[in-house]
Amino acid sequence: MQHQGILHPPLRAPRGARLSCKSWLTEAPMRMLMNNLDPEVAERPDELIVYGGSGKAARTWEDFERIVACLKRLEADETLLVQSGRAVGVLKTHADAPRVLISNSMLVPKWATWEEFRRLEAMGLTMFGQMTAGSWIYIGTQGILQGTYETFGALARKHFAGREGQGGKGAEGQRDRGIETGNALPLHDGGTLRGRLVVTGGLGGMGGAQPLAATMNEGVCLCAEVDPSRIEKRIRDRYLDKAARSVDEALAWALDARRAGAAVSIAVEMNAADLLAELIRRDLTPDVLTDQTSAHDVLNGYVPNGMSYAAALALRRDDPERYIRESYRTMADHVACMLELQRRGAITFDYGNNIRGHAKEAVEKGFADPRAADFRPGGGSRSSGATARNLGIAPAEACGSDFDPFRIPGFVPEYIRPLFCEGQGPFRWVALSGDPKDIARTDRAVLETFPDVDASGRRVPHREHLCRWIRMAGERVAFQGLPARICWLGYGDRAKMGLVFNDLVARGEVSAPIVIGRDHLDCGSVASPNRETEGMKDGSDAIADWPILNALANTACGATWVSVHHGGGVGIGYSIHAGQVIVADGTPEAARRLQRVLTADPAMGVFRHVDAGYERAEAVARERGVDGARA
Ligand SMILES: NC(=O)c1ccc[n+]([C@@H]2O[C@H](COP(=O)([O-])OP(=O)(O)OC[C@H]3O[C@@H](n4cnc5c(N)ncnc54)[C@H](O)[C@@H]3O)[C@@H](O)[C@H]2O)c1
Repeated sequence: MQHQGILHPPLRAPRGARLSCKSWLTEAPMRMLMNNLDPEVAERPDELIVYGGSGKAARTWEDFERIVACLKRLEADETLLVQSGRAVGVLKTHADAPRVLISNSMLVPKWATWEEFRRLEAMGLTMFGQMTAGSWIYIGTQGILQGTYETFGALARKHFAGREGQGGKGAEGQRDRGIETGNALPLHDGGTLRGRLVVTGGLGGMGGAQPLAATMNEGVCLCAEVDPSRIEKRIRDRYLDKAARSVDEALAWALDARRAGAAVSIAVEMNAADLLAELIRRDLTPDVLTDQTSAHDVLNGYVPNGMSYAAALALRRDDPERYIRESYRTMADHVACMLELQRRGAITFDYGNNIRGHAKEAVEKGFADPRAADFRPGGGSRSSGATARNLGIAPAEACGSDFDPFRIPGFVPEYIRPLFCEGQGPFRWVALSGDPKDIARTDRAVLETFPDVDASGRRVPHREHLCRWIRMAGERVAFQGLPARICWLGYGDRAKMGLVFNDLVARGEVSAPIVIGRDHLDCGSVASPNRETEGMKDGSDAIADWPILNALANTACGATWVSVHHGGGVGIGYSIHAGQVIVADGTPEAARRLQRVLTADPAMGVFRHVDAGYERAEAVARERGVDGARA
């Protein structure tokens, strides 16, 4: 690693129970900062980049060293202030205050553009903190795997609970139920993807989690990917079961597995738009349909059809303008096929890659051909190798003159918001000892605290999803850096689990303290109108008071470090969000802080959704005594 022209040795957080700072409350942020930059964890540690484009842990290597030096000298009643990856001050506070307060990438709204941000970054004045990069609680790909598992699980509970699998069109239609869900739907009543076929595209950094997340939910996953090296990597990492040599073989395997109720994931090397056209031609409707090709980027991400992958790469290099046109055109066809399969009964959702927006733009810019040749549902006698185009599934034809990609709902309003109404969200923890046995012990503690079978041997359906994840994660997730685990827990359960972990530390059942934190993508910690707060019931998508209140509440309650960021997930100008991390060091003081913080943090999600008018959140507030400041 470069450090002012000098090679910086690869970082690895200290392990074991010996402190190099004055207490665990400062040792923990130091180890987690170093862990974020461990080459096993970070994407480009040389440049301090942890993940998500240019999400950094510290502004420069000098800043990294300065933060570490400050943490080493910090007293039990002092607080370090970090401004966009740089230590800027130490304050006398008190023992229950956070040890570190962080603000990353914040800009005055009128100046909040990438151009201005990059200009200021080039002047050395700021850095991009993403969500968990600049707040020192990134845990590698386990986070996206669990998030995808959670989305597929919520989908299964919503559409398939209480119904037999085996494909078919047994799922209750999306349109009948409407997108505005947060309210009436029962949660956790045991639905899985067993006997269901999930079709998707893209096996990249994030999309590569889809096959394993689907099989962990007991489903069949068929994924189209144009780049064979991505397919090989996912098989090597055991995120994908097998690769088919042809679309015929892929579909035969997928349908067999669906009939048998087997959990199998299959990749086929082809363009995702063409796979969907092939399904339409054969009159095969998947149960679930989504996409995680890199459609957010029309030039350096998405790959157009109608040419080989090698030819597409050459076109990207030699004629970017034509590439962009072809890319737009394919996306419009791709979305037209998604809309057609949705019309035929597939549960279809957008997975945050902006394919809807680009398909719409494609038609507006005149890149997509709105005329159709001879599309007829069922496909008839057309030859194999179908594309949306040669089937005539052009945007206007598939949808009439009203080509509206946004008839496909986004994943947050559709599946995640009902969980947010319960104060549910990502709850992650890391063993500061570095010993995987400590995580195994905490896994057992989760299963003991929230068992899926009660004392008299009866199933506890609403815990089955959580327990299946914990068991499978223990078997299948390889740790990156310090051993860590993540699961989703709601209001009440987070505090309960935090206290159990603190007891494990106090009793010496784990060999060093545990830190508990979360992604900034949480129920009451983010304002992001294109993602987490898309389509709020009261129209409050862009209201950003909530993440600020969240950070203030976590500070008041005594989290160990608290952060506010701008731009994570969706880019500069599009989001404001907050995070917290708290140390369970086994002391009674830590127990009191854990109780406060892990109650207040998810309470923010309940408040936020009660305020927006979600009945489910109101019911949760009533049932669990969350004080909504009613007179
Ligand atoms: N929850 C969210 O909101 C969320 C989370 C993660 C990622 N994303 C989005 O999902 C997308 C994927 O993320 P990633 O990190 O996996 O990206 P990536 O660039 O690592 O991988 C994308 C993959 O898609 C493949 N691909 C591109 N066009 C294709 C096509 N037409 N047919 C088949 N394969 C094609 C590429 O070969 C590549 O392997 C991005 O747009 C990202 O912004 C959204």
